[in-house]
Amino acid sequence: MKEKDKIYDNYLDLKNIHSLNDYTKLEKAGKIIYDGGLVLFPTETVYGLGANGLDPEAVKRIYIAKGRASDNPLILHICDIGMLGKIAQNITDLEFSLMNAFWPGPFTIILNKTPFVPSIVSGGLETVGVRMPSNEIARNLIKYSGVPIAAPSANISGRPSGTNINDIFDELASKVDYIIDGGDCNIGLESTVVRVIDNVPHILRPGKITAEEIKQVAGNVIIDKHILGKLEPNKKVLSPGMKYKHYAPKTECVLVYDSSINKIQEKIIHVAQKCISNGKVPTIMCSEQNSEFLRKNLDENIHIINLGSDLNSISKNIFSDLRKADTYNSDLIIIEGVSTDGLGLAIMNRLLRACNYNVI
Ligand code: TXA
Ligand code: MG
Repeated sequence: MKEKDKIYDNYLDLKNIHSLNDYTKLEKAGKIIYDGGLVLFPTETVYGLGANGLDPEAVKRIYIAKGRASDNPLILHICDIGMLGKIAQNITDLEFSLMNAFWPGPFTIILNKTPFVPSIVSGGLETVGVRMPSNEIARNLIKYSGVPIAAPSANISGRPSGTNINDIFDELASKVDYIIDGGDCNIGLESTVVRVIDNVPHILRPGKITAEEIKQVAGNVIIDKHILGKLEPNKKVLSPGMKYKHYAPKTECVLVYDSSINKIQEKIIHVAQKCISNGKVPTIMCSEQNSEFLRKNLDENIHIINLGSDLNSISKNIFSDLRKADTYNSDLIIIEGVSTDGLGLAIMNRLLRACNYNVI
């Protein structure tokens, strides 16, 4: 980080927190947020590109920095429940139960907004997404800023979300006023987004908090059909984010999945060999279970990225590995899918979009 220190002096390294006293270093960043600046900060899910959520001019800078469509609303991040009353109203018992169960944590709930929330935050909607992160750096930053922080994932729109500073430094550092480096994000996928309709929670974006966990609290849950399905043109959606291209590397990607490990291996080898016989170079992203087999059965010059052996590690690595796969300048990225049970639903939701629904 020495070099980054030199070129960018508004950089705070909080990768190693030694005592609670370290959080006081966030006072400066909090003031920058309050005063209308943009700050890159870590959360337990992905990095956020944060601004004062009550200041329309500051929020406008987020949309410009990301190149984000103005109808795609932002999540407001709060550090304690006392901040909720200013931004959301008419909250139901079930909504309170869900917040109680999953906050602080990777859970966003869509609520009716108050007039204090600028319409630029909600993309013109009457609702607002609210999340209380569990990451202590994020919570202390909100505390020092004294306002709810509007923050989308830290990435240029359409690109994989940033889960460490190195991955996003080149695309965002010059556009922000301050950078907080908290190391790698623990979860690696964005929060579960839920909206309660007629007393039933609808999952609009899957994440670490699974459908099963929500069902345990609410007795019922509906997974929006667009989570795994392609959106038809001009279709009305419950969450504007569903309409846009997401998470995509620059290289073309294909998603490979099957019910048995043998069939997955066969399919990956088949797609890779077809690619090679067309004079092209594939890169492979696969589970640890398959990486050794593929290594033995494919040309040693082919890059094979090991995504990890379980859903938690795959979720933690996936965005960073999509970016890494892009740097190999191959012609096709072949990605092994996972079953859609539990956290697998969130992983497949991101991979389907990264691959533009190109599935074998
Ligand atoms: O984990 C996360 O949620 C991260 C970290 C930084 O907190 N944030 C994040 O924000 O992923 P973003 O802007 O990249 O994704 C927010 C998603 C978008 O798909 C957006 O359309 C949806 O939430 N959303 C936000 N407000 C909404 C609302 N009022 N109604 C429906 N969908 C909403
Ligand atoms: Mg995003």
